[in-house]
Amino acid sequence: MSDYVLVLYYSRYGATAEMAQRIARGIEEVAGIEARVRTVPEVSAVCEAVEDTIPEQGAPYATLDDLRDCAGLALGSPTRFGNMAAPLKHFIDTTSSLWLSGALIDKPAAVFTSTASLHGGQETTLISMMLPLLHHGMILMGVPYSETDLLTTKEGGTPYGPSHLAGEDSKLPVTDTEAKLCRALGKRLAEKAVALNIR
Ligand SMILES: Cc1cc2nc3c(=O)[nH]c(=O)nc-3n(C[C@H](O)[C@H](O)[C@H](O)COP(=O)(O)O)c2cc1C
Repeated sequence: MSDYVLVLYYSRYGATAEMAQRIARGIEEVAGIEARVRTVPEVSAVCEAVEDTIPEQGAPYATLDDLRDCAGLALGSPTRFGNMAAPLKHFIDTTSSLWLSGALIDKPAAVFTSTASLHGGQETTLISMMLPLLHHGMILMGVPYSETDLLTTKEGGTPYGPSHLAGEDSKLPVTDTEAKLCRALGKRLAEKAVALNIR
């Protein structure tokens, strides 16, 4: 029986990592379930390069067991050319054993992203992250328009999942609106995991 929602992300400059923390706070608002925040290592074109098993700072690296045993999943990546970043895709490509055993079937999942520019591909990235989760049989959740900030935001925030506009140099802070939508998604995901009795 699992008692956590996995917040699994990759972040190079910190924006997606900040979003992950905001989503985790929303998860922790729900009784009886907690957030487990994990990241993935960089990938390198130099095949001999091997990362330390524990990162120097920030969240620990995810294992397949973290994913297999979760009650739900929030998956986050910076946008790279309108798609998810390679390190996250690399990790997903190691999950065949979970696909074969059906370990993630019927578990709730959601996605989040950060971009440099407002029209730089938030929605395409979010949808690209949904595709492998559908193959795994997960139940995808977005952000409903009952979160009325979706109607007015001039920053991040989409019905496909929370997003952040980081700006050209990727230094803009996560705004109150973006943070609110992250938190709302985390809470909703955790509530659904509890309601589905996946814990
Ligand atoms: C290789 C590469 C490709 C990128 N492609 C896009 C893009 O298609 N659209 C966009 O708006 N930003 C793009 N960016 C910018 C990042 O998405 C943006 O800086 C993001 O906020 C970084 O998130 P992080 O702080 O979690 O690493 C790209 C950055 C890199 C390094």
